[in-house]
Formats: sequence, structure tokens, C-alpha cells
Amino acid sequence: MKFKAFRVAKTDSGFERSIIERSESDLPEGELLISVKYSSLNFKDGLSAAGNPGVTRNYPHTPGIDASGIVLDSSHPDFDNGDEVIVIGFDLGMGTPGGFSERIRVPANWAVKCPLGLTLHSSMVIGTAGFTAAECIQKLETAGMSNTSGPVLVTGASGGVGSVAVKLLSLLGYEIIAVTGKPDKADWLKGLGATHVITREEALEGANKPMLPEKWGGVVDTVGGDILFNGLKSLRYGCSLAACGLVASPSFNASVLPFILRNVNLLGVDSVQLPIQEKEVIWRKLGGEWLMDLSALEEVLTFDQLSGAIDRILAGKMVGRGVLHL
Ligand SMILES: NC(=O)c1ccc[n+]([C@@H]2O[C@H](COP(=O)([O-])OP(=O)(O)OC[C@H]3O[C@@H](n4cnc5c(N)ncnc54)[C@H](OP(=O)(O)O)[C@@H]3O)[C@@H](O)[C@H]2O)c1
Repeated sequence: MKFKAFRVAKTDSGFERSIIERSESDLPEGELLISVKYSSLNFKDGLSAAGNPGVTRNYPHTPGIDASGIVLDSSHPDFDNGDEVIVIGFDLGMGTPGGFSERIRVPANWAVKCPLGLTLHSSMVIGTAGFTAAECIQKLETAGMSNTSGPVLVTGASGGVGSVAVKLLSLLGYEIIAVTGKPDKADWLKGLGATHVITREEALEGANKPMLPEKWGGVVDTVGGDILFNGLKSLRYGCSLAACGLVASPSFNASVLPFILRNVNLLGVDSVQLPIQEKEVIWRKLGGEWLMDLSALEEVLTFDQLSGAIDRILAGKMVGRGVLHL
């Protein structure tokens, strides 16, 4: 059976993208053959499409760290043909051919059944980015954050993780300060639930100071670099910052002062290797008490529009969530 897939190939002139036909026999071994109905574009897919060896080592390759679809052929007792499933993270779209394709084949322990409350489509509007936003907020709340802790800072707010974080924090009754490099998106962010919108330059003020006044009851940081450490220096006593991204920088200059003077916590967040049982808990929450209307976030993408969207996400210009309709 032939199907369409997006492919990145290494050539003498760099990494080239095209849409090709593939056969199911080209796919790796795995217990679930899935007919992909939706995928979504994440920053990591941009890195994979650009040849970043930290994400993908072997080309030609099909990126796409997210996929939702219908099981066509299951050899695992937990899944039947016809089941609607979501696959995010693990090796999908990194070393394993990913969701920018009409078919994937994956191990059964990478998949969760689409929970009540979500659809194959809405789960991909969430995708890895939205799931990670939820994971950050769950981790912050487990560490003690509540909507009485103080305003929550969200960095990279117009991006995939940031915009879903704003929407979810708003649903949960938080006061939200959104940091964006796109001042023209301020009203859009307020429409999602941001209380105030500030620029990246404002978020970087005082980067040379050892400590900053106590402001935030929590921080969802998607960018890293000096903005991350400014966030830590501005946390209220005992509060926490969840770090999940690196679009500004993977490193930052730090001191122990916020930790030993304000008792604050730096929480790491990974959605990729998070055990499938923990992934299932968060997906169920996203289909239940954390159910959001994310229609304002979606940009519909077709195969033909994917390459342009990849360029935009690498340039930090993507807004909300790009969802690939297959
Ligand atoms: N840990 C995990 O499991 C996990 C999962 C998903 C994503 N991530 C990471 O989280 C980050 C965000 O992912 P995403 O999918 O939300 O990407 P995205 O859609 O591209 O959003 C990133 C946003 O960051 C802001 N930004 C871009 N360049 C910046 C810079 N130089 N300095 C400061 N801000 C900048 C932009 O928003 P504004 O213009 O609004 O500032 C941009 O839209 C990425 O690093 C990604 O790899 C990690």
C-alpha cells in the first residue's frame, strides 16, 4: 500500500524537503500500523527538517514528533484495529519516521487511546507543545503553585507551548503575564486570557543584577537564556519555575542566590521520555477538567504548506499551533 510522506534528504547543497510516495514495507517494525489523520508542527520538527544532529542523525527522514490516527493493524492485545490513538514523543519523528506522513508504524507503548473529551483533531491542536504546557502547569501545581500564589509569567507566549499555557492558566483562574517578541499579538494573547503582555526587553530588564523584586507566583519558561534566570530571580518566596525550552538559548548565567535566599525551585520538564502511564494521566486531564477550546490557536496546514511553516517556526515567527491535516 502506497502513501504520501514529507521527506527531508541530505544533499550536497544542504537539507532538501519534498513530498514523496512510500510503501508500508518501508516503515520500521512495530506493533501498531496507524493511518495518520492529523499531526502538528513543533519547534523540534523544525530542527529535524534543518538537519540538527541533536534531533535526527540519519537522512532521508520524515519528521513529525506528533501523530493522531486510526490503528490499521495491531499485533498488541491492548489495541484493536480501528482504535483512535495519539502518539507523541519517544523516538517518533527523531530517529523513527514521524507523523508528517499518512502512515506510521510504532511500538504499542508509545500510543495512548484518544481519551473521552478529545478528538483526533483536538488532540493535535494540543500536540507535544500543548501537552508540555499542561505538564509544566501540573508540575508547578504539584510544587505548590495555586491561583493565589501570585501572577504567573509565561515566556515565548505566542508560540505553541506558550499560547496553550496562557489558555490553560486562564481556565484555572490565574493572573498571567505573557512575554512576547510580537507586540502585534498582544490583543490575541489577551483574548486567550493573558492579564498583561510585556516585551522580551522588559523580561530581560535587570539581567545584570544579582536579585530582582519578588513578583511571580510561578513561571512557565519556554525560551531559556537570561529570561529564564530573570524569571527565577523574580519568583516570590518558595515559588517555582518550570523550564521546558531553549529557543533563546540552551544555557544561562546563574547564581545560587535565588535558591538560598528565596527558597525557589527550578523544575525540569520533559515530554519525550515521560512514561506512557504518566502521559495517559495528562491526556485524560486535557480531555476532562482541563478541556479547552483551542480553536483560536489553530493554523491549518496541508503537506504543501508545511515547508513554509517549518521556516517560520525556526525563525520564531509561528503563532499558536500549526496542525497538519492529512
Ligand atoms: N521539554 C519538552 O519536552 C518540550 C516539549 C515541547 C517543546 N519544547 C521546547 O519548548 C520551546 C518552545 O516550543 P514551541 O513548540 O512552543 O515553539 P514555537 O511555537 O516556535 O514558540 C517559541 C516562541 O518563543 C519565542 N521566541 C522565539 N525566539 C526567541 C528568542 N530568541 N528569545 C526569546 N523568545 C523567543 C517566540 O514567541 P514570542 O514571539 O511570543 O516571544 C516563539 O513563538 C522549544 O525550545 C521546544 O524545543 C520542549
